[in-house]
Amino acid sequence: MTPSGASGGRLAIVPGSFDPLTNGHVDIVLRSARLFDRVTVAVLVNAEKTPMFSVDERVAMIHEVFGAHANIEVESFAGLLVDYARRRAAQVVVRGMRTVADFEQELQMTLMNRHLEPALETVFMVPNAQSTFVSSRLTKEIFRLGGSVQGLVPPAVERRMRAKQATVVHT
Ligand code: PNS
Repeated sequence: MTPSGASGGRLAIVPGSFDPLTNGHVDIVLRSARLFDRVTVAVLVNAEKTPMFSVDERVAMIHEVFGAHANIEVESFAGLLVDYARRRAAQVVVRGMRTVADFEQELQMTLMNRHLEPALETVFMVPNAQSTFVSSRLTKEIFRLGGSVQGLVPPAVERRMRAKQATVVHT
């Protein structure tokens, strides 16, 4: 592992499923972009068997949301996070920490990743207070049951959710 990413500066990876990208994710990515030279939002391939959005759609929506930020990029990855971080010469993984339940899961994942790659650091960030109750899972559930997701996801994501709903054939 090299001290800086391949194209210079300190690279942080914000990995996740992002199905869909929520305002909580946006907050964490923007905080990361202020702290590190470059940020890659990394969408895991095949995290869920029946996702709302394909990986390509998720990459496209994340690109739409962060397109104006020169130091934020998005790509997908498959396989182990530590292998992806090694390929990208990234020193840091950033994860959002909302609740105590998150902490238990994140601690386990962090220690496992450290076991696999001791040079990779995980940094936890607390999102803004309005995002502490927001999750992709709940957002999808609310949307599927006809509730409003305004304020939970960026407008571009809400538009894509509506467009997806419009293409679903109801039998
Ligand atoms: O948004 P999520 O679903 O909480 O993100 C979880 C993610 C993608 C960070 C995690 O599942 C992951 O890193 N998967 C890649 C496979 C891997 O490295 N597994 C071992 C983790 S200890």
